[in-house]
Parts: sequence; C-alpha cells; structure tokens
Amino acid sequence: MIKIKSDREIELMKKAGKIVGDTHNYLKKYIKPGITTKELDKLANDFIIKNGASPSFKGYDGYPGSICTSINDEVVHGIPSNRKLKEGDIISIDIGACYMGYHGDSAWTYPVGKISKELEDLLKHTEESLFAGLSAIKEGARIGDIGYNVESVAKKYNLGVVKELVGHGVGTDVHEDPDVPNYGRKGTGPVLKKGMVIAVEPMLNLGSADVAILDDDWTIVTMDSSPSAHFEHTVVVTSDGYQILTER
Ligand code: MF3
Ligand code: CO
Repeated sequence: MIKIKSDREIELMKKAGKIVGDTHNYLKKYIKPGITTKELDKLANDFIIKNGASPSFKGYDGYPGSICTSINDEVVHGIPSNRKLKEGDIISIDIGACYMGYHGDSAWTYPVGKISKELEDLLKHTEESLFAGLSAIKEGARIGDIGYNVESVAKKYNLGVVKELVGHGVGTDVHEDPDVPNYGRKGTGPVLKKGMVIAVEPMLNLGSADVAILDDDWTIVTMDSSPSAHFEHTVVVTSDGYQILTER
C-alpha cells in the first residue's frame, strides 16, 4: 500500500531530509585520501545524533554501520571499516536519518582527490540520470515514467543499470511501497499522487549491469569489477512536480 503523507508528516520529513542533506555537506569536507570509512561513519553518526535524529540504517536487518560507504566497484551497502580512501577513488555515501519517527534517505558519490576523466563522467552522468528520473514526477505520472527516464540517460552514455536494487517509498519506514526501479516503460506502474514520498536512486556501472554480493552478506559489487556510482534523493510528489527533501 502506498501511503499519502499528511502536511504534518511532510513537515517532519522535511526536517529528517534536511538533517540527511546537512550530514552530506558536513561529511564532504572529510572525504580525502587517508581517512578510513569507519572514521566517516563515526563523524556522520555523531552529527546525526547532535541534530536530534538517529541513523536510520544502524541495526536495519542487522546492518552494522550508521551509513553505507561503497568504494569504486562497490555499488551499495559497503560496510564502514578500517579501509583508507586513496587518491583517485570514488566513494558512494548513503545516509539515512530518522527524526520524530520519519526517515530521510540520500546517497551521493564523491571523488577522492583527483579522479580520472572517465570517473568524472560516470559521476556526472549518474547524477544526470537521477535528475532525469525526478523530472518525470508529478501528480498523475507513473512509476514507470521515472525508470524510463533514468534508463534513457544510462543508455545514452552506455552505462549498466543495476536492476537488483530499486528506489522506494519513504516514511515511518526507510523502505515503503512502491518499488521505484531504474528502468521501465512510460505509462506503466503505480500512479503518483500528491503527498507520496519516494526515494529515486539510480546505480550505474561503467561496465556491465551485473552485480554480486560479497561474503559479508551486505556489500554489492559489480561482477566485472567496473566502478559504480549511486545518486539518491528523497522527494515528495506535488501537484505539478516534486520537492526534494534531502537537499544539500
Ligand atoms: N539507503 C539504502 C537504500 O536506499 C538503504 C540502506 S540499507 C541498510 O535503500 F540496511 F544498509 F541500511
Ligand atoms: Co534508498
């Protein structure tokens, strides 16, 4: 069942989303060669708590971190560890915060120091696919319109679209109905209504779309070890478009 949020709920979700966006802004300054993903996790955890929220992912299905940190060929759900960032890496940071019972969810992929032109393009094009997907959103549009737009951008740049993981509704749970795939056909899927809150989150690979899961039972990696990027915003559907709740 897809929930429609009341004005009061949307106000709370704006607060949750703002804390997520602010945490990204805060963390960004620390993304440099030499820092470990565990240090980033602690910085984010403490920042979220200081802002009166709690990290949504901690303990979710037993997930051990407060955020997800996925480097290079890691697509999503990388667990913070003692691994140090290196010059030329890319890192996807996925942050969720829960404020007064409501969640915000946003991921972004960052360069570590100077990165190759190829990786710069991967980040630029994956971000472009997120905004193309979002541009389909308004009351009366359908979930398939979003995926169609994301996939069109991926095809234009010959990037692999990860299909095993999808965007989702957001509310009192981090993952609510509906699923929001990063592929699809126009005019198909559930109809969007004002007050629905969804997270759109393309995961695009420089190589093939195929992914595998590591022995830690969390980390998703590309099968061909090609780098992968992930950009995600939580948005509320409005009568003529959408509003981003996790703006940075
Ligand atoms: N942010 C992820 C998503 O967008 C959720 C992380 S799942 C967790 O769906 F278990 F790692 F928390
Ligand atoms: Co999400």
